[in-house]
This record gives sequence, C-alpha cells and structure tokens, in this order.
Amino acid sequence: MDLIKQLLEKAKSNKQRIVLPEGTEVRTIQAADQLIRDGIADIILIGNQEQIKKLATELDLKNIEKATIADPLNYPKKEEYTNLLLELRKSKGMTPEQAAKLAEDPLYIGCLMIKNGDADGEIAGAQNTTGDVLRPALQIIKTAPGISVVSGAFLMFTTQKQYGKDGLLLMADCAVTPDPTASQLAEIAVATGNTARALVGEEPQVAILSFSTKGSAKHPLVDKVIEATQLAQKLDPTMNIDGELQADAALVPSVGSKKAPDSKVAGKANVLVFPSLETGNIAYKLVQRLGAAEAIGPILQGMAAPVHDLSRGCSVNDIYNMVAIAANQAIAAKQK
Ligand code: ACO
Repeated sequence: MDLIKQLLEKAKSNKQRIVLPEGTEVRTIQAADQLIRDGIADIILIGNQEQIKKLATELDLKNIEKATIADPLNYPKKEEYTNLLLELRKSKGMTPEQAAKLAEDPLYIGCLMIKNGDADGEIAGAQNTTGDVLRPALQIIKTAPGISVVSGAFLMFTTQKQYGKDGLLLMADCAVTPDPTASQLAEIAVATGNTARALVGEEPQVAILSFSTKGSAKHPLVDKVIEATQLAQKLDPTMNIDGELQADAALVPSVGSKKAPDSKVAGKANVLVFPSLETGNIAYKLVQRLGAAEAIGPILQGMAAPVHDLSRGCSVNDIYNMVAIAANQAIAAKQK
C-alpha cells in the first residue's frame, strides 16, 4: 500500500478543503478527527453544531474543534447558496421554495460549497445511498469539460502479484452508469486509463471486457464492446486500449497470446473496463470478498470536481483514504 502512503504525503504537502456532509455520522467524525490530527486536509463538517460537539466529546475526539462546522439550517452563506442553486436549476423547473429547501440538505450544501469555490472536494455515502450522493453532484458540479458521463473506478489491491502493478488493478464502471452506450463505454475506458495515470503513475493497459475475445462469439452485446473499443482508441490514440477481451485473455499472458495474439493489451491488462454496471459491480465485490482483495473506491471519474461516494459498510480508514484521494485529484486539477 505504498501508493496510499504517497497519496497521503502529497495531500499533506498541499492541504485541500474537503467537505464531509455526514458530519454527525460516527465513522465520518472519527475519520475527520484523524485527518485533522495528521494534517491531511482542512475538514468541513456539515451538521448540527451541538450534535457534532456532543459526539466529539463522547468519542473523545480532540481535533474536531479545528474543523469548520456548517449547520445546514443556519449557515452564513445559506441565501447565497439558495440563489446559486436556483440559478443552476431553474431551467429544469426548480422553484425558489424547492431551492430554499434543498439548500438545507447537507448533500446539496456540500456540492454548492464546491461550486461556489468554498471547498475542493466532497466525500459522503456512509449514511446515504449512491443515488442520493450522486444526484446533487451530477446536477450542480456536473461533468468535466469534454466529458459526458461519470463513472466509478476501484483500486483493487489483490494478492495476485503477477497481475497489474504488483497485484494492483483498476476496475470500472462499478458504481454509476447502469447501461452505458458504446460511446459512454469508450469514455469510461479512457477516464479509467487517466485515473490509472493520475493515481497509480502507471501507463494504463486498458481491456474492455466481454464474454467474447476477438470474434469468438457473435451477439449485439459483443458488438457494443467492439464499437466502444474503436471509439476509445480514437478518443485517446496514445493509450493502449483493446477489446473485446474475456477476463482471462486480458490478464493471463498464456491465454492472451493464444486468444488475441495481435493485441498489445491481452495478457497484461492493468485496467479492466466492464460492459455494464451489473458486471462491474458484481465483479469487484466478488474479487473483494472471494479473492480477499482490498477495494478502494468508488473513485468517481469525469466529474468537474472530486466527489466520492462511500459504501454504507465503509470503515473509518476507507473514509480517511478517500479524503486523501479526493485531495490528490483536487491538487492535480489545480495544476492542469
Ligand atoms: N454521467 C453524467 N451525468 C449523469 C449521469 C452520468 N452517469 N447520470 C445522470 N446524469 C445527469 C443527468 O444528465 C441529469 O442532469 P440534468 O438534471 O442537469 O439534466 C442529472 O444527472 C440527473 O439525472 P437523472 O437521470 O434524473 O438522475 P437519476 O435519478 O437517474 O440518478 C444516478 C442518476 C444517481 C447516477 C443513477 O443512475 C443511479 O442511481 N445509478 C446507480 C448507482 C448505484 O446504485 N450504484 C451501485 C452501488 S455503488 C457501489 O456498490 C460501490
């Protein structure tokens, strides 16, 4: 896990403002305390001030007093954020009353803080569903310029050192887009390759997966992966991207050389792109549970600012690491 150490060091060297909208959730406040103690980020907690203080006292969290606390019902920029939200969403039919109500919702406030330049990234989802975390982010922060689709990648630290970078692989989309079109799948492939470049510092070898390798099966689902591969190769001709590949052809050199002898990626893929959310979500959870891999993510890709959704089963350490990842992405975005 040297990678995480590197990310933590980088975050420390250029502290970013990370907002945690679930400020009264126990694991979140514990992670916040450790993040402040270790100087990883400037933390903004959203939640009732008295409740946060009471929880910090009960849990003996001495560093929480250094967090910025925004009470969702009574924070200084409430009117400004209400107007900002109305401006952004009135063309979608939002009324002033709806905007005022949503400007009291911690998940909306977190995104409005980022949009207004008051925070650099957000981590939520210890308490809320993926949909509830993502919807305000998609509506307010939106996608990065030139990107139309948001997706979620996982860093999978497997015990199988012969694959990827000493067992580390990226998998996507495991979190957001249920049934991507070929062009969305192409964008997801390039975005995941870019995440590998940004976070792992490794040249991506991107395999777009299927149940077929190079024409071994014929089906409209295979055609979608073939089209996505062609589009992805055009989107970034500098990146090694290939498909359609079965998982074994993508990963295992002896299988790759038999099934796809002309492929630059077969047998050495370090980025696995799944054809649908069903396959991606199921696959990463199986690798995590049956393969005893550590899964870090979902790392949202394609959003105009770093927002990450946690699993509701997340640990304090998961939240801590995701803050470091968001901080690194915010630093990288500012250096562009
Ligand atoms: N990329 C970019 N923008 C998107 C995407 C996307 N993938 N999906 C929706 N949007 C935009 C829409 O264009 C729309 O923008 P607009 O209102 O400005 O026009 C806005 O987001 C809202 O779109 P809706 O379609 O109304 O939103 P929806 O209610 O469908 O929610 C969501 C979108 C939350 C991403 C939904 O598709 C979803 O719930 N996906 C599955 C998430 C999930 O459950 N994942 C598995 C669990 S995660 C895990 O296990 C790690």
